Amino acid sequence: MANSDIIFQTINLRKEFGALVAVDNVNLQVRANTLHAIIGPNGAGKTTFFNLLSGNIEPTSGQVIFKGRDITHQPVHKTIHFGIGRSFQITNIFPNLTVLENIRLAAQAMGRDNLKFWQSASAFKQYEQRAWQVAEKVGLKDRVYHLARTLPHGDQRKLELGMILAPDPEVLLLDEPTAGMASEQVPELIALIQEIQRAGNKTVLLVEHNMNVVMTVSDTITVMHQGRVLAEGTPAEIKANPEVQTAYLGGLYELESPTPQTYDK
Ligand SMILES: Nc1ncnc2c1ncn2[C@@H]1O[C@H](COP(=O)(O)OP(=O)(O)OP(=O)(O)O)[C@@H](O)[C@H]1O
Ligand SMILES: [Mg+2]
Repeated sequence: MANSDIIFQTINLRKEFGALVAVDNVNLQVRANTLHAIIGPNGAGKTTFFNLLSGNIEPTSGQVIFKGRDITHQPVHKTIHFGIGRSFQITNIFPNLTVLENIRLAAQAMGRDNLKFWQSASAFKQYEQRAWQVAEKVGLKDRVYHLARTLPHGDQRKLELGMILAPDPEVLLLDEPTAGMASEQVPELIALIQEIQRAGNKTVLLVEHNMNVVMTVSDTITVMHQGRVLAEGTPAEIKANPEVQTAYLGGLYELESPTPQTYDK
């Protein structure tokens, strides 16, 4: 694998919370233009790992490299400008603003010329246009004037995805984007994420508990367990890994049963 293919890399990345080691010297490489899932049981350190990548928290030690550049100590408002977009496990929208306003503000807040925003009518128009474009992309064009809080949960998740997409990031860190969704809504959102990743040549890092989803859409899967990387590989390799089966997948996922191929891969 050529080094230039690696968009994200961590070197011995570690985060301690007091005596607890939430992320334990993780060495991870993420190839550009792939969908890379991170799975693992509750408390494995997945969200903490994302927080380290996006600059929401500082590591105890180790490094985060993005496109060859050390961004270890860059705060989140900087990493957004580098092209790293992220979602949170909990829905993160402005409930009393409309869909369009939410997306427009996300584009504005993360836009390069955000300080000039209020001074320039043309910048406003540009963000407004971008918001329309994104609303259409995530399937919310018919709801642009609805207040976010009135949307069904599934549409709120689409809105959240739209807000991450608004500044056109190169990498999307999606922490359980389908959390709380009715199971019949999950395929649509996942198909949308896959579409965005492929059509937009983006890199998606995905934390997801739904094993059918993970096994069908991922190029690469990293399994975390107690802060460490337990295994990494293609879906087929992960399914076949006895350590993973014992530590994590056993009981949660019927490894031998044929799974419906809802998403093409
Ligand atoms: N700010 C914090 N202070 C102290 N401990 C924390 C903090 N954030 C996370 N932890 C702990 O670090 C460990 C890893 O948590 P983390 O949220 O990263 O796990 P996760 O893999 O995302 O779990 P889940 O699947 O439940 O979302 C857990 O034991 C958690 O309690
Ligand atoms: Mg989490």
